[in-house]
Amino acid sequence: YTAHIDANDLGKGTYPYYMIKEIDEQPAVMRKLIQQYQNENGDLEINESVLSEIKESDRVYIIACGTSYNAGWVGKQLIERITGTPTEVHLASEFAYNTPLLTKKPFFIFLSQSGETADSRQVLVQVNKAGYPSLTLTNVPGSTLSREAKHTLLLHAGPEIAVASTKAYTAQIAVLAILAECVAKYNGVDSPLDVAHELGIIANAIETVIDDHEIFERLSVTHLSTSKNAFYIGRGIDYYVVMEAALKLKEVSYVQAEGWASGELKHGTIALIEDNTPVISIITDKVSGPHTRGNAHEVISRGANSMIISMEGLDRQEDAYVLPKVHDLLTPLISVIPTQLIAYYTALHRGNDVDKPRNLAKSVTVE
Ligand code: G6P
Repeated sequence: YTAHIDANDLGKGTYPYYMIKEIDEQPAVMRKLIQQYQNENGDLEINESVLSEIKESDRVYIIACGTSYNAGWVGKQLIERITGTPTEVHLASEFAYNTPLLTKKPFFIFLSQSGETADSRQVLVQVNKAGYPSLTLTNVPGSTLSREAKHTLLLHAGPEIAVASTKAYTAQIAVLAILAECVAKYNGVDSPLDVAHELGIIANAIETVIDDHEIFERLSVTHLSTSKNAFYIGRGIDYYVVMEAALKLKEVSYVQAEGWASGELKHGTIALIEDNTPVISIITDKVSGPHTRGNAHEVISRGANSMIISMEGLDRQEDAYVLPKVHDLLTPLISVIPTQLIAYYTALHRGNDVDKPRNLAKSVTVE
């Protein structure tokens, strides 16, 4: 007999879609990562040969596609701020055929949930040919990028089935933070944060935001389910998150979405704002926050349907959804959660196949 069981549906349990299950799993993934990377003394630990190669390098190059690329931008911020090593982020498909000038001692980090993305692999082939050291961060042990890179760090997020990536994004950022702290310690630099402790706080904070899912479902229905376009705006670390927020919304809801550096609105994009255009501002950065607020007011005065996602401890919260306070360098791990929920509920209320959006594949093995 052949059993007619859809293998992809076995793990879904009582959830209607994998995407919401995977969003829900993120607190557990954060806790698991702390355990996986802690040694018996409770210190974060990563293979010394990775740390010594990063120490010897003069620049880190992060190579990735899609959501992993967006995680890479947060990784750049973490590596530069925690270790002081200059870091660049590149789209694999661009880097492969339009390679930038490299420094003398580059170190390559490949970010890939699946470990199978052909665009990233093409760069790794070139990196190996040139003899440069490399590290893959992936969710899949034994995947192509893991086998072919010199080193691997696992994301320990458990299988990600929904095409739109959620828990792999947050796991990549968490592992990059762990890596950065270990590099700093190895280099004798004082880390500005205790990553294991902060990830514990983040796990609880993610739970708090997920408990508020009805707020984001309502917002999706009122602001987005009938809209043809939408904008996310932010600055600094929030800019990196709005790029991912817009990608997620596009992927599953098919709403044409842009993640924009809010200071750039006035240089062109504000021309697209009309009555009821949805604009969601992410404001966790103390320094640039007041400027983004100013930009939110500019779009409100042009008729935009505004929502502000802010963070505890910042000024003027009366019109905002307020995220629980987490460490300044790790705010993407919490500010991205409402945007995942918004993408999910918007797709759900538009009647889309949330887990298998049209035209997309979970892992893209052609260039
Ligand atoms: C595909 C998926 C995206 C993913 C990208 C990179 O396009 O649909 O969700 O972000 O590939 O995948 P990777 O496995 O390399 O992280």
